[in-house]
Amino acid sequence: MDKLKNYILTYGNAKDTSVLKVDSFLNHQIDVTLMEEIGDDFAQYFQHKKITKVLTIETSGIAPAMMVALKLKVPLVFLKKNVSKIHNQDLYTTKVHSFTKDIDYELSCNALFLSNEDHVLFIDDFLANGEACLGAMRILDQAQATLEGVGIVIEKSFQKGRSLIEEKNIDIYSLARIQKLDGEAIEFL
Ligand code: G4P
Repeated sequence: MDKLKNYILTYGNAKDTSVLKVDSFLNHQIDVTLMEEIGDDFAQYFQHKKITKVLTIETSGIAPAMMVALKLKVPLVFLKKNVSKIHNQDLYTTKVHSFTKDIDYELSCNALFLSNEDHVLFIDDFLANGEACLGAMRILDQAQATLEGVGIVIEKSFQKGRSLIEEKNIDIYSLARIQKLDGEAIEFL
């Protein structure tokens, strides 16, 4: 998606060789017209699938995922992080390790919101090592829901996330694929 790539080149900041800061339009301040075009692009790519729900992870996945859900006219469900299980009996849960942040966290979803009748499109802002996406897949397995595809706003193609998802024969579509971050330089595939 050319507009997204231009935003990344204009406003993105390659802090080092592994992390891209995009706080001014995606991770802190959100450019809503860009989000709308992102929603259109994903919705067009996945329109032939019978999607019943869009799934993402709080926090930064919610903005792009909501626009996709709006375009597809289906509900958006977001997985929560570190929810107390004490008052929630019917939860799907799984532990995820973040290599970027070097922390473990738990993802959870109320069992009311995903079922074996759902055909799900998973959307996230970044794909790095794929741990968050694999965690979402484990939640979908618990719900016996069907994963129809994965949509990623910014894929860091030099990390292993895409290959782990492709190994599972999942249709993955990324709007911007970065092959190299090098100080100030950002190179796309
Ligand atoms: P993975 O799921 O692909 O393995 O990624 P990882 O655990 O390494 O990423 C952890 C968090 O860091 C995720 O956000 C992810 O979106 C974000 N992230 C990974 N690489 C980058 C990057 O280069 N730039 C930016 N800006 N973010 C990156 P999170 O902790 O879930 O944050 P939030 O959604 O709550 O804001």
